[in-house]
Amino acid sequence: MTDILSWIDVGPVANIPRQGARTLQTETDRIAIFRTLDDQVYALLDRCPHKQGPLAQGIVHGHFVTCPLHNMVFSLETGEAQGPDDGCAAKVECKIVNGTVRVGLTELQAGLRHAG
Ligand code: FES
Repeated sequence: MTDILSWIDVGPVANIPRQGARTLQTETDRIAIFRTLDDQVYALLDRCPHKQGPLAQGIVHGHFVTCPLHNMVFSLETGEAQGPDDGCAAKVECKIVNGTVRVGLTELQAGLRHAG
């Protein structure tokens, strides 16, 4: 797993509807942040591994999301495609701290570079 450079506050968990998502645009990626019916939060890159579908616009059910374009189902916990489909959506670290959702960005996502 890539090292986390920084944790970004993306607001109260209550701002994400249950069984819904919001997105976070970083320097390099758009991240989909999902909230489940049981108030867990997960994050994946907002780019389906099949044909780049916007996973944030998918349907959240249990701890899974169904891509809005061709209905592939991905685990929110692992990013892995379910059933007979192959593929894995890129997982992004995400947690709730005192009611606030935090997303862990890698150095590249944070858009930071080391000099020299
Ligand atoms: S783009 Fe997601 S299933 Fe095809």
